[in-house]
Amino acid sequence: MIKSRENLLGPLIPNAYLRDAAPEDSAGIGVIAEETGLFPASMASQMIQGCFSRPNEAFLLVAGSDDSMLGFAYCELERLTSGTWNLRAIGVAPKCHRSGIGSALLHHVEKKISTLDGRVIIIETTDETAQEPARVLYSTSGYKKEAYIRDFWDVGVAKVVFWKHF
Ligand SMILES: CC(C)(COP(=O)(O)OP(=O)(O)OC[C@H]1O[C@@H](n2cnc3c(N)ncnc32)[C@H](O)[C@@H]1OP(=O)(O)O)[C@@H](O)C(=O)NCCC(=O)NCCS
Repeated sequence: MIKSRENLLGPLIPNAYLRDAAPEDSAGIGVIAEETGLFPASMASQMIQGCFSRPNEAFLLVAGSDDSMLGFAYCELERLTSGTWNLRAIGVAPKCHRSGIGSALLHHVEKKISTLDGRVIIIETTDETAQEPARVLYSTSGYKKEAYIRDFWDVGVAKVVFWKHF
């Protein structure tokens, strides 16, 4: 486990930690997933199990402070690629937005992918207003807007793909 108050999650969050998810984290991840509208809480335990059964193809990081879960990031190796990873989900508890947790998670996602010989990371999102914080986070973290697919998710809702090369 990596522990550092100042270097990881900033001085605003006491006793912060960032580590790989464990089975007992599924409830906390599920709560944040639903609070942020990312996916149903019931999917969390399945994701964690998948990471244990395919450790070189998927991982889930969690950030927290003392006993509370504050955020998570889930990544998968893209099938049929050599070293292209997809950040499938990143979410931070709404009460803690703008405290540096999203950036810390993204930074550690990149470190982890490097250790797994990853070459490229992509992040698929939308052009909706609700995703503006995420798009700003990716742009300010050095991701390039690589693709824009009109009407992908729904009529008038585009897919936006961010890309970074290691
Ligand atoms: C996107 C998300 C993970 C960001 O997490 P966070 O912990 O609030 O982000 P950080 O505090 O690390 O912010 C880092 C930078 O991102 C940008 N940013 C984050 N939130 C922003 C907002 N609401 N408006 C504008 N810029 C924002 C800023 O550049 C910020 O740096 P700054 O605070 O020094 O200006 C969080 O908003 C979230 O959980 N959103 C809901 C789920 C979601 O949309 N996930 C992504 C799906 S593709």
